[in-house]
Amino acid sequence: MGFFDMKNIRLPNYSIYLDDHWNNLRESIKDYSKIIILMDVNSRIYCLDEFLMHSKIQNYETIVIPDKDGNCSSDTRGDAEKNRIPNCMEQYKNLETCQYIFDQFIKLGADRHSLLINLGGGVVCDMGGFCAATFMRGFNFIHFPTTLLSQVDGSVGGKLGVNFKGYKNLVGVFKDPLDIFIFDKFLDSLPERELRSGFAEIIKHAMTLNYNLWEQITDMDKIDIELLLPLIEKSIVLKKQIVQTDPFEKGKRKILNFGHTLGHAIETAYLKRQMQITHGEAVAAGMVMECYLSMVYYNHPKEWLEKIVAEFRKFFPKIDLSDEIYKEVLENIKLDKKNVGREPMFILLLEVGNVEYDLRVPEGAIEEAINYYRSQY
Ligand SMILES: NC(=O)c1ccc[n+]([C@@H]2O[C@H](COP(=O)([O-])OP(=O)(O)OC[C@H]3O[C@@H](n4cnc5c(N)ncnc54)[C@H](O)[C@@H]3O)[C@@H](O)[C@H]2O)c1
Ligand SMILES: [Zn+2]
Repeated sequence: MGFFDMKNIRLPNYSIYLDDHWNNLRESIKDYSKIIILMDVNSRIYCLDEFLMHSKIQNYETIVIPDKDGNCSSDTRGDAEKNRIPNCMEQYKNLETCQYIFDQFIKLGADRHSLLINLGGGVVCDMGGFCAATFMRGFNFIHFPTTLLSQVDGSVGGKLGVNFKGYKNLVGVFKDPLDIFIFDKFLDSLPERELRSGFAEIIKHAMTLNYNLWEQITDMDKIDIELLLPLIEKSIVLKKQIVQTDPFEKGKRKILNFGHTLGHAIETAYLKRQMQITHGEAVAAGMVMECYLSMVYYNHPKEWLEKIVAEFRKFFPKIDLSDEIYKEVLENIKLDKKNVGREPMFILLLEVGNVEYDLRVPEGAIEEAINYYRSQY
């Protein structure tokens, strides 16, 4: 039995299994004749053996998203460190990789009665789900997220898609998975930087939705996997509650974009230059800046901001926002797909755990917020 004590979470169309994964998985997949497991090179190295051992799946096919040398097979654990690819999966989250996946679907004889298992991080889940949801107008898929970020956020809520022309998640659909399985043991092989990335989304859930969770976070001095585990379930439950009330992001779900207006703009600027940044690192910087905007908008005292920012400093080193990136971030904000017209919309903090959405701030304030980060973070 895993860390969670039979605390499976039900949504109207599917379940999120936090325990007894393998029996539930066997039950979920029993009616499918063709099962395809999609991975990236790292989840192939670190997660497939364990997945096969526990699930005892016999008949299956695999697709591994190739790295930039076209490599998609690698030895397992023995050579893991040698074969591990750096975090550049975001660069592969595009229509070109979708074509590769569609080609593999054809080669493997996938059809509308097949099942895809997305075994990987947010990139594999978002892109695999998108391919499954669109190939032959859609076949079923399961998310088996293997990163903290995809467990607490990315896999829940039915958003699927890829980046286009460097812009984040510009092409995509909403479709729920058949089921989601959260197996915390997969986190053991995750580099600290990736844990930190997922931690940013837990912080987002706390700051926008739940002050108690925020208090638990502020009690921590560093990101420690043992301390993180109890926060995973809370984070998933918070996200589940929001997506259930507003599955297609017409209203309240927008709350979950806190930190993402600026965060996505930063991530896009890095992506264009092929500079490395994790989604969570960009979002953490975005949250700091959007806290600054909250201070301006609601007239919070400077101490209010400093107290929050001190917490971020404990976990997130400053990221580089040199003049060139800074200019590009401002440009990118104008193209954010959440914008009405070309004006950026924000989610701002009335207080920690309580936010309002669809708010406009003057462009000057956005520059001020970025400059606050550049000079004082
Ligand atoms: N659909 C949504 O609602 C939603 C929400 C949040 C984020 N996202 C998306 O998720 C993506 C980010 O997800 P991510 O942070 O999981 O990134 P990722 O998929 O790139 O994974 C991060 C890195 O960890 C490696 N990895 C995966 N599992 C591992 C394991 N168990 N051990 C060791 N290494 C492992 C991957 O190969 C990669 O290098 C972004 O594209 C973001 O847009 C989607
Ligand atoms: Zn995010």
